[in-house]
Amino acid sequence: MLHDHQLLSQIVVHGFLLWASMGFLIPVGILAIRLSNLEEHGRKRKIMFFIHAVTQVVSVILVTAGAVLSIKNFSNAFDNTHRRLGVALYGLVFLQALSGLLRPKRGDKRRTIWFFAHWILGSTVSLLGIINVYTGLHAYKKITSRSITPWVIFYTAEIVCIGFLYLFQEKWEYIHKQGVIRGNEPMTTIQPTDKESC
Ligand code: HEM
Ligand code: HEM
Repeated sequence: MLHDHQLLSQIVVHGFLLWASMGFLIPVGILAIRLSNLEEHGRKRKIMFFIHAVTQVVSVILVTAGAVLSIKNFSNAFDNTHRRLGVALYGLVFLQALSGLLRPKRGDKRRTIWFFAHWILGSTVSLLGIINVYTGLHAYKKITSRSITPWVIFYTAEIVCIGFLYLFQEKWEYIHKQGVIRGNEPMTTIQPTDKESC
């Protein structure tokens, strides 16, 4: 049982900052950029790109605050899964945001390899971040002997919703086409977009 009230409140702030960034904003930012792939209009695509960039940059700021707080006040022992995975994520999230900011323009040959790297690292960081919120909640339970059940239920419900939307985006066009018989598809005129800009 933890009796140090200052440490307890630092742990709560650390947990909140890292849930808000890695457990919420990063996955939501990924949903936003994936939504832009379904959008045909340049303006809407730009808005979705803007949401992705802003949510991810804000996330990195929140992760930085949570990291500084934990490194200044916690043990720095890095001797359990939460601590080790956590410190690796502090580094990877920076690398990911940097890669987003240094993206080559659409049409540039290096864009293909950039997209692959940004997609794979981004998805990995997001998945590991989601997992580390769970291990963080367990570390909190171990240290404070307090129940984490309501938080685990709330967080799992949030992740299930995000996971559902992620899968739904994948299938959206396919679902949409179910009412159309092959060969009877309406002619689509190719509209110029300002896709190139992001
Ligand atoms: C992806 C999100 C998270 C990351 C990257 C992360 C990262 C870290 C790191 C690196 C440490 C070790 C700090 C040090 O010793 O210097 C730590 C400690 C700790 N974190 Fe987190 N954390 C996250 C989420 C959470 C959450 C949601 C909670 C819940 C309250 C939490 C609770 C704790 C506790 C209690 C400790 C100290 C005890 C221990 O390390 O076993 N963390 N965290
Ligand atoms: C921690 C931060 C970030 C994470 C976790 C992240 C994650 C991702 C992921 C997973 C994708 C692929 C989505 C898909 O189609 O399945 C993506 C796409 C993209 N990201 Fe990020 N991202 C981050 C930061 C940034 C930043 C800061 C920018 C730019 C300012 C950026 C620009 C882009 C662009 C332009 C795409 C779309 C690429 C394309 O479709 O050609 N990202 N991001």
